[in-house]
Amino acid sequence: MKPQVLVCRAMFADVVARLREHFEVETNDADDTWPRGELIRRLQGKAGVFVTSSEPMDAKLLAACPDLKAVCSMAVGYNNIDVPACTARGILVSNAPGVLTETTADLGFALMLAAARRVTESERFLRRGEWTRWSVEMFAGGDVHGATLGILGMGRIGQAIARRGALGFSMPVIYHNRSRLAPSIEAELGARYVSKEALLRDADHIVIVVPYSAASHHLIGAAELAQMKRTATLTNIARGGLVDDAALAEALRERRIAAAGLDVFEEEPKVHPGLLDVPNVVLTPHIGSASLPTRRAMANLAVDNLIATLAPGAREAPPTALNPEVLGTAPSA
Ligand code: DGY
Repeated sequence: MKPQVLVCRAMFADVVARLREHFEVETNDADDTWPRGELIRRLQGKAGVFVTSSEPMDAKLLAACPDLKAVCSMAVGYNNIDVPACTARGILVSNAPGVLTETTADLGFALMLAAARRVTESERFLRRGEWTRWSVEMFAGGDVHGATLGILGMGRIGQAIARRGALGFSMPVIYHNRSRLAPSIEAELGARYVSKEALLRDADHIVIVVPYSAASHHLIGAAELAQMKRTATLTNIARGGLVDDAALAEALRERRIAAAGLDVFEEEPKVHPGLLDVPNVVLTPHIGSASLPTRRAMANLAVDNLIATLAPGAREAPPTALNPEVLGTAPSA
């Protein structure tokens, strides 16, 4: 008998075919969002689960799924997975870092450019048929080239954004992070470490690329927005919950900052109505990593991790395990 694996969302056919070489696979071809009870029911007897950032893998759910030995996510962010609870149960957890870095940085830059240059706001105006003549201040926004780029969170994606800003757009780059980068990396990126307060005060365009946790909840709220320049933009491509959406909607409505670009939301897929009401925000539905080659690479990395962890006779270590220490204790299925 092959080990059983559940794939929680509709997936590329060739990726599922790879899994079927090693496992009995249950798929979700309808791409339904399974309620919690149904997810638990489907996980009975499953040794592995292929998840995205949408399925909660919390301690209570894990306790109800005693056969589980591997939780492999195709996302880089893993705030939906209780890693310590998995470790305590001998469940291997993996995520998908690296493969989506450049694609996600591209979208961060796209949102920042669109917000600063009022791209979607002006497109809506045009589509409404309101464009009757050219005028000197029509949709005049802020410049991106040469402006100060402030990056909150300087992991792989933050660094890829810094590189785009410094090398492509001649932007002085300042950043704030839990830990400071090595001087050689700072020099390569032309990035200067500053306090969060200095970043809020001095940046013309702020991009958030911080992992979400209880400690980073509402990293940007009303107090932080009040410290930003009135001409500044704020872009969030990391996770909803890092920004207080209600406070941001109000700051945008009152023009306390110029504009925002958001790919993630506190209650996604629900979007705060205040954000839908204001013109000066560019909104995308969590598509940071959504290029086809990157989504395929993310999915294949999750499969690599499942195969390495659970396939009978597998020899390789899971390439991107978050708790490799469980491998000494986890019985292979
Ligand atoms: C990630 O990989 O964390 C992206 O946000 C997709 O969920």
